[in-house]
Amino acid sequence: MRAQAAVHFEGSSELEIREIEVAEPGPGTVLVKLRASGVCGSDRHVLDGDWQLPSPTVMGHEGAGEVVAVGAGVIDVEPGDHVILSWFYPCRRCTACLSGRAYVCTGSRSEECLLPDGTTPLSLEGEPVYPYLTAGTMSEYAVVPESAAIKVPKELPFDVASLIGCSIATGVGTVVNDAAVGAGESAVVVGAGGVGLSIIMGLQLVGANPIIAIDLNEDKLAAARELGATHTIVPGPDLAAQVAEITGGGAEYAFEAIGRVQTIESLPGLIAPGGTAVIVGLPPADAPVSFDALALAETGKRLIGTNYGSTVPGRDFPKLAALYLAGRLPVDKLISERIQLSEVNEAFEAMRRGERARSVIVF
Ligand code: APR
Ligand code: ZN
Repeated sequence: MRAQAAVHFEGSSELEIREIEVAEPGPGTVLVKLRASGVCGSDRHVLDGDWQLPSPTVMGHEGAGEVVAVGAGVIDVEPGDHVILSWFYPCRRCTACLSGRAYVCTGSRSEECLLPDGTTPLSLEGEPVYPYLTAGTMSEYAVVPESAAIKVPKELPFDVASLIGCSIATGVGTVVNDAAVGAGESAVVVGAGGVGLSIIMGLQLVGANPIIAIDLNEDKLAAARELGATHTIVPGPDLAAQVAEITGGGAEYAFEAIGRVQTIESLPGLIAPGGTAVIVGLPPADAPVSFDALALAETGKRLIGTNYGSTVPGRDFPKLAALYLAGRLPVDKLISERIQLSEVNEAFEAMRRGERARSVIVF
């Protein structure tokens, strides 16, 4: 089957819209017709050469669509089902998966952009092409492992569903699964892009207070206020003092949602003794950060990393969908622009300028 797809060739910072060939779904895999794909900061890292990947790559990892065919042995979904794709499919066999911690699965090949059998379902003019994180959602069709296609209710709009697949799962997940923020606890979020605004939504959901958003862009801060931020700050040299003043000595939780070394290093200074700092944004490879370890230890501060908000997709996507449908998680407010696949490069340009919460490609 042929599909229009946004393809990244190593060394380029732009995507090319090309017609690729998509294989029939083999055993244990599912053919999905994509209906929406978000444009995420992690895709931007690949375009900007921050991370090494098999190339050429069909970009996109935040998507939703409709199952059109299933391979032999598939029992979780059937043609016609609406699904959100997970960009980290679990192997279901390693110790992490068997302990219910699929988000640290060691058997998945999704980061190699391969199916469990080591193949890619995509090709371009007879040569292999790799779906980013074995999702490759900036394409009309994708073939993914059964465990990466999570069934959701048909009344869930596809654009909303696509964002649940990455930014919302990551943002709300880090608040609920990793930090376990409680009602009335204080939190600061550094970076109010798609992921940071999703963290703010999660903080609003659990009743955190105050919720402080920090971003260079005033439009992002306005969006943060709409989603529940009680205070917003354009960072200056006295950022830690400003946060300390609002929270009475530092926040109980701080989240970094940009992926910059400097802002990650600022986290311990934003939290109170005993507080927790969470690294959510992903920096470029080989970018070490440094802290005053003595100060961190003496003040009993915790620094944790999280990948995908420690999401267990089969458990969490349906919950997040139900929260949206119940009016308790305004995912639609994250969508700043609905675009065509052919407009994807403009969406990345806007992202590099710090504009738009989320652009969503609608097929
Ligand atoms: N201080 C404050 N805010 C900043 C700074 C800074 N020095 N630099 C950038 N920002 C803001 C931008 O204005 C933007 O609003 O950080 C936000 C980043 O948002 P996006 O580019 O939309 O990225 P997003 O998709 O949210 O992803 C953020 O999370 O999952 C990871 O790989 C992803 O590392 C990326 C991060
Ligand atoms: Zn993402």
